[in-house]
Amino acid sequence: MSAIDLAQVTIARGGREILRNISVNIRRGEFVGVLGPNGAGKTTLFRTILGLQPIQSGRLEVFGAAPRRGNPAIGYMPQTRIGQTGQNLRGFDILANAANGHHFGLPISSRVIRDDVAAALQAVDATELAARPIATLSGGQRQRLLLAAALLGSPKLLLLDEPLISLDPAAQASIIALIHRLAETRGLTVLFAAHDINPLLGVMDRVLYLSGGNAAIGAVDEVVTAAALSKLYGADIEVIRAAGRIFVVSDTADHHHECGHA
Ligand SMILES: Nc1ncnc2c1ncn2[C@@H]1O[C@H](COP(=O)(O)OP(=O)(O)OP(=O)(O)O)[C@@H](O)[C@H]1O
Ligand SMILES: [Mg+2]
Repeated sequence: MSAIDLAQVTIARGGREILRNISVNIRRGEFVGVLGPNGAGKTTLFRTILGLQPIQSGRLEVFGAAPRRGNPAIGYMPQTRIGQTGQNLRGFDILANAANGHHFGLPISSRVIRDDVAAALQAVDATELAARPIATLSGGQRQRLLLAAALLGSPKLLLLDEPLISLDPAAQASIIALIHRLAETRGLTVLFAAHDINPLLGVMDRVLYLSGGNAAIGAVDEVVTAAALSKLYGADIEVIRAAGRIFVVSDTADHHHECGHA
């Protein structure tokens, strides 16, 4: 059975179609990189899978059922980060709150929540970090706490919205390795949104590219080509491979900016 199946799905926000008639099937246990320029609909797709955003037409199934809010099978790391508020909170408080929200409406004992939080923190090796005020943590350390929050309730699917943002290359490599190891040992399906494809090349099974309302999914060598991306973007895109890295570039200045990873 698929983890996620979209058949001819159209999603609109604010009266505008963001993704148009897309068909994408993601198998259980797959690690999929989700790429595409700003505004392509990566976050919108995640919100739709979470049941937070309706579809206009088509069919969407998550583990064989319609999307529903609060699905415990899904762990979500939102693109919005821990902001300036609550800086005196400790990581532990944030996770305990998240765990409470996770079990919303259910009479759940504080013991179960404590155990869930402790296990999630241990999985990302952040037990000690969680005792410190958030304000005293680095971006990479906060990111690890957010990953722990996404692991609460032992989900089968992780939707990770740009976990690499504002991390240096070493911190990027370390969080990717951590997520990859968790995915392998737990058999998780992972959708990992990113702006640069290169850090994901060693871990992802397939890439899902979104642009101009369209979607293309496949092996990197199938999707990240000049022909396939030019069709997707509706513009001339060049793909340059050098030193084991991939650079997606466009001739026109305005599109160069939109590609976001050249
Ligand atoms: N609350 C909203 N109301 C109306 N339109 C929205 C809303 N949120 C996002 N959009 C629009 O939906 C489109 C897709 O946005 P989305 O956030 O899904 O893109 P994205 O691929 O995640 O971009 P980014 O790389 O910047 O995170 C954009 O055109 C955006 O302006
Ligand atoms: Mg986004």
